[in-house]
Amino acid sequence: MCGIVGYIGNQKASPILINGLIRLEYRGYDSAGISTIENNELSLMKDKGRVKNLYNIEGIDNLVGTIGIAHTRWATHGKPAKENSHPHMDNSKTFSVVHNGIIENYNELRKFLTDNGYTFYSQTDTEVIPNLVHYYYHKDNHTDELKFLRAVKNACSNLKGSYAIEIICKDYPNNMIVTRKDSPLVIGKGEEENYISSDIPAILSFTRNFYLLDDFDLAVLTRDAVSFYDKDLNAIPKNTEMIEWNASSAEKDGYEDFMLKEIYEQPTAIRETIGAKFNETTKCEFDELQYTKDYLASLNKIYIVACGTAMYAGLVGKNAIEKLCKIPCEVDVASEFRYRNPLVDEKTLCIFISQSGETADTIAALKLCKEKGAKTLAISNVIGSSITREADDSIYTHAGPEIAVASTKAYTSQVMLITILAIYFAEKLEMDSNTINLLKKDIMELPKKLEETLKLSESIQEFSKKCYQEKDIFFLGRGIDETVAREGSLKLKEISYIHSESYPAGELKHGPIALIENDITVVSIMTDCNLVEKTVSNIQEVITRGAKTLVITNQNVDENMFDMVIKIPDTNPFISPILSIVPLQLFAYYISKEKGLDVDKPRNLAKSVTVE
Ligand code: G6P
Repeated sequence: MCGIVGYIGNQKASPILINGLIRLEYRGYDSAGISTIENNELSLMKDKGRVKNLYNIEGIDNLVGTIGIAHTRWATHGKPAKENSHPHMDNSKTFSVVHNGIIENYNELRKFLTDNGYTFYSQTDTEVIPNLVHYYYHKDNHTDELKFLRAVKNACSNLKGSYAIEIICKDYPNNMIVTRKDSPLVIGKGEEENYISSDIPAILSFTRNFYLLDDFDLAVLTRDAVSFYDKDLNAIPKNTEMIEWNASSAEKDGYEDFMLKEIYEQPTAIRETIGAKFNETTKCEFDELQYTKDYLASLNKIYIVACGTAMYAGLVGKNAIEKLCKIPCEVDVASEFRYRNPLVDEKTLCIFISQSGETADTIAALKLCKEKGAKTLAISNVIGSSITREADDSIYTHAGPEIAVASTKAYTSQVMLITILAIYFAEKLEMDSNTINLLKKDIMELPKKLEETLKLSESIQEFSKKCYQEKDIFFLGRGIDETVAREGSLKLKEISYIHSESYPAGELKHGPIALIENDITVVSIMTDCNLVEKTVSNIQEVITRGAKTLVITNQNVDENMFDMVIKIPDTNPFISPILSIVPLQLFAYYISKEKGLDVDKPRNLAKSVTVE
C-alpha cells in the first residue's frame, strides 16, 4: 500500500514522477505529492485525492529540478488530508521524505523529537523520519560526502516496523538515498539516470534493468551510479537483474480497463505458466526445485498460506495435493495462521502464495514457519519479490504484471502452478500415473478452452444488466465449485460494492435460505458430475422462493429451469476452476461497469497490502 517513485537524471523530474505515480495508483489513491530540488531548495507539492489532482496545484509546471521523490498514499496513520500527504519535511526544510510502511514506534520517536524541540504538523508516523534524520545530521560535525548517508543510517537504526523510504536533502542536490525493510522498493537503472519505484511495472517503460534491495540495505543514487551499503555502512556489491516483462504488458493496450485486459490475457498467462514443465511423454520438472521422493514421503502435512484471492487459489491446490499426493493439506489465511501457533515442524512443507510477493502477513507467516524448522516454498508472480528472497525455494507464475486491484489472471495462474506442483510431487511419490497423465493432457488443452470460455462474455454482460442494482447476491457450489464460489463472490464485492456471500450449496438450508426472497440473484457453479444433481436440488429450493438464477456449468442441465445458463467447456475436475471462474470475473466486471464504478481501483482497496 502506498506507492513511491523517484527520479534522478538530466530530465525534468516532475512529469516522470507524476507519470510513475499514475501507474502506481493501484497501490493507494487517497492523496499524492512530489518534492524536487530546485536551485538547492526543496519544493513540496501535495494534496488530498487522486494523483491527477497534482496537475491543479499552482506552480507544479514550473518545477525544473532533475531530482525528485513522489508518493501516492493509502492512509494508515492520519486521515486522507493535505497535511498527512507525503512527502514530509523536517522542521528546517532540509530533508524531504516519502515512506511506505508503518513506523510502529513513532509515538516514542515523536516524543523524543518533541522533547528535543521539534514540532509536528501531521498525524502521520512518517513525519518522525525527516526530523530524526535532521537530528543526527545536525549532531554530526563532519562535512564529508557521507554525512547525509550517516544521518539516514542513524535515523533508520531507530525505526521499528516496516518501511521503504526515499529521501532527498537540499545540501546534497546530486544524491538520493533509499532504504527498505519489509516494504517493497526497486531501483531501475537507466543511461545517466536512475529510477525508484515500489514495483517494477511503473517504470518498465524507462528500463528493464533493476537492482533489488534486501532488508536494511541503503542505496545512494547519483545520475550515473548507485552505491549500496549494509546497515553498518559497509559497501556491498550488487548487480542488476534483467526483467523479462515488456513495457506494453503494463499498458491497457486498447482495453477500457486493466481488469478486462487481464481477464483476456488468461490463455497466454496459463500457457506461459505451464511453459516447458512437462509434455505428453516427460515427467513434470521444476528447474528451481530438487525435492526427493524420500523428503516428500516424510511429510506429515502441507500448509498453504496466503491472503485474499491467493488463498482461494490455495484451496484449489489443496484438492490436488490431497487427491494426487495423498498428503494432508491445510489452507489458511496468513493473518490468522501466524497468530494461532500453528503445528509446523521439519516434517511440514509450507507453501506461500502471493502474486506481489510483498503481502506483509504472508511474509510474516513464512518467517514464522522458517523459525519452526519447516521447509518453505514461495509461489509468486514477481521475480525477486520479498517473499521469494525469504523462502527456501520459489517458483513463479508467468502471468505478467497484474495492475487491476481485483486479481484475475494471477488467480488462474496460481491455480495452474499449484496443480502442476501437485503433479510434480505425485510423480516423485510414484502415485497413480493414469490419473496424472490424463490431467497433464487436459492441462495442455486448457489455454484453448479458456479462449472458448472468453467468447461467452456477451451472455454474461446481458445477465449483469439484470442484477447490477441489487443489494445482495449469493454464490453457491459444492466441492471444488465451492472454492470458485468464494472467489467469484470476492470479485463481485470488491469491484461492485454489492454485498455478496458464498456458501457451500448444502449449507443453504442451515441459514442463508432465510435471506432468499423474490428476485434475489443466486449464482451457482456446477462442474462436478458427481455433485451436480445435489446442487440442482438446492437451486430448486431458491427458485421456489423467487430467486433469479445464473448457472455456470459444463454439465447437461435442464436450461429451462434457470434464468441464464453459461455453458463452459468440459475439463478435468482438478482444473475446472480455471475455466469456471472466468464467467464470474466477467460478471463482476460488467456489474461494476453498469454501475459506473472505477473497476481497476475500487474504493478502500489496494493491490498490495504491505501493512499487517
Ligand atoms: C490484496 C489484493 C488482492 C490479493 C491480496 C493478496 O487484498 O487486493 O487482489 O489477492 O491482496 O495479494 P498477493 O499479492 O499476496 O497475492
